[in-house]
Amino acid sequence: MTNAVDEAFAADLTARLEVIEDRLLAAAVANSPFVTEASRHIISAGGKRFRPLLVAVASDFGSPDFDEEDLVKAALVVELTHVASLYHDDVMDDADLRRGAPSANRRWDNSIAILVGDFLFARASSTVATLGTDYVMLQAETFARLVQGQIAETRGPQPGDDPLAHYLGVVADKTGSLIATSAVFGGMVAGAEQNVLDALANFGEEIGMVFQLSDDIIDITGTATGKTPGTDLREGVPTLPTLMLRASDDPSDAPLKAMIASDLSDDARLREALDALRAHPVIERARAEIERRAELARGYLTELPDGPAKDALLQITHDLVNRSA
Ligand code: IPE
Ligand code: IPE
Ligand code: MG
Ligand code: MG
Repeated sequence: MTNAVDEAFAADLTARLEVIEDRLLAAAVANSPFVTEASRHIISAGGKRFRPLLVAVASDFGSPDFDEEDLVKAALVVELTHVASLYHDDVMDDADLRRGAPSANRRWDNSIAILVGDFLFARASSTVATLGTDYVMLQAETFARLVQGQIAETRGPQPGDDPLAHYLGVVADKTGSLIATSAVFGGMVAGAEQNVLDALANFGEEIGMVFQLSDDIIDITGTATGKTPGTDLREGVPTLPTLMLRASDDPSDAPLKAMIASDLSDDARLREALDALRAHPVIERARAEIERRAELARGYLTELPDGPAKDALLQITHDLVNRSA
């Protein structure tokens, strides 16, 4: 991040994220050493801590004399919810790797991964309960959207659904929802005005879309993600570039369309499909769509006062569009 961001503001953020880091590990402590170890497994493996970062940045749009402990708790709630959903997602996606470490479903098994995810959701619940009913309500609604997004992705578009609209709905629900809530929680802990909370919600939802759409491109183009490249392609999970390709009626696209629709469980075939997709113009078209959405996100920031926090959100938006891991 940084460069364009005020140094004192950046130092504050770093200090807060360090506190949040310790508290995440503390929140994972369970009644047995095994559950503590399994719960800390994905937390300790790293991760960008993007949602806690948003909570911390957004808290600058309220009154400066808020309770620091509320900010830490709000950040814990969104990251614990996120990490728990990763335990479950890796079961659903039959993933091997998460944050550069063996996923919990590989290291142990599906049942352990599901139950540890539930345990972390419980920790998020007990933390959010101490913040108040409005936080509990928002977290519950967010979690309901996230889960429904995952369910909609699993079922796929139903007869009559437009595949692209279905996909964008999935992305908004499974990822946009929690990222929007992270920004709103930041504003809430600092007692921000309703118009500010609305702007943070709109901005968060849109950069949440940008975040997932670029993550889906990175599944095809990325090399240093700590996840196995091509997981979506192998599992037949649609992404913006593959949907754009499927919609193409250019006859020269037919072989690649057939290939991505075929069984890619064989590593060599998956690699071949990935190489061909990487070289295809749909990747650039998908990137252009992401940039268009980033511009929409920036538009919501005009509602917010200028200052280091707004600069940080602009920098985050820039980094999300241009990220490669
Ligand atoms: C991964 O989220 C799941 C998506 C919503 C794409 P992140 O990309 O935030 O994963 P970590 O937390 O950095 O590992
Ligand atoms: C994950 O979506 C979204 C949630 C965990 C809610 P993906 O399946 O696309 O994310 P990665 O690629 O495994 O991180
Ligand atoms: Mg996944
Ligand atoms: Mg998934």
